[in-house]
Amino acid sequence: MTRITPVEIKNRKLTGPRLTMLTAYDYSFAGLIDAIGIDMILVGDSLGMVMLGYDSTVPVTMEEMLHHCKAVNRAVKKAMVIGDMPFMSYQISEDEAVRNAGRFLKEAGCDAVKLEGGSSLSSVIKKIVSAGIPVMGHVGLTPQTASSLGGFKVQGRDMKEAERIYEDALAVSEAGAFSLVLECVPAELAGLITESIDIPTIGIGAGPKCDGQVLVTHDMLGLFEKFTPSFVRKYCNLAPQIKEALSHYKEQVEAGEFPSNEESFSGGEEAVLAIKQRKK
Ligand code: KIV
Repeated sequence: MTRITPVEIKNRKLTGPRLTMLTAYDYSFAGLIDAIGIDMILVGDSLGMVMLGYDSTVPVTMEEMLHHCKAVNRAVKKAMVIGDMPFMSYQISEDEAVRNAGRFLKEAGCDAVKLEGGSSLSSVIKKIVSAGIPVMGHVGLTPQTASSLGGFKVQGRDMKEAERIYEDALAVSEAGAFSLVLECVPAELAGLITESIDIPTIGIGAGPKCDGQVLVTHDMLGLFEKFTPSFVRKYCNLAPQIKEALSHYKEQVEAGEFPSNEESFSGGEEAVLAIKQRKK
């Protein structure tokens, strides 16, 4: 079975249906997400927060990203797997950006990379694309540089910011990216960008007018309890259910109710008897 290609993703802007993307960071979740036919799996640097317990995505390293990408790629048959380039893996020089982007494909088995930033990164995107590596852009709220954007808040409500995000989106599209994540921008601005560029927009906190949607899987399953952004819809609330199951296990072990005979192995009675007699 072959995976979905960037050309197929781009065509979906015209043909529909809307594109779906979710994050995954390990083999088990990636397998579940792939099995139900999600188009793209993003190994997001959000793993720094939901898997590794950092306070932001800034500390995430190339080695951490590759480790998780390898696990995801072992599971996925059909979806496109996109590796998120961590902070400072693509800003220092174009050569280093291409080398690091290449590692996601060569070492980890990803199909594409994602990087955050607009006009100022268009030459980096061009260089990576011309090396044969498909790039997904990411503009609006860019978590790696959130502090210079005034924190984790909606971007593009005033004229200056809206203009910047619009220009960033055009620049990423013209640089050759195959799709673009729009994070935390007003729905109307996301709609305008979506109709102004040839590549599909994938919204997260960017309203219904994008060509597709992405959520952090841990948020939409209610697995991450530290905080939940207001744009997230929780499709279930697993954390309380998991805690209930864990408590039940604890109670049963403490009370001697687990394991039962059915959950134990039989046989070896003669050997046990012989050892007991030898001990006498
Ligand atoms: O790291 C991530 O999970 C992301 C998504 C929020 C788009 O960049």
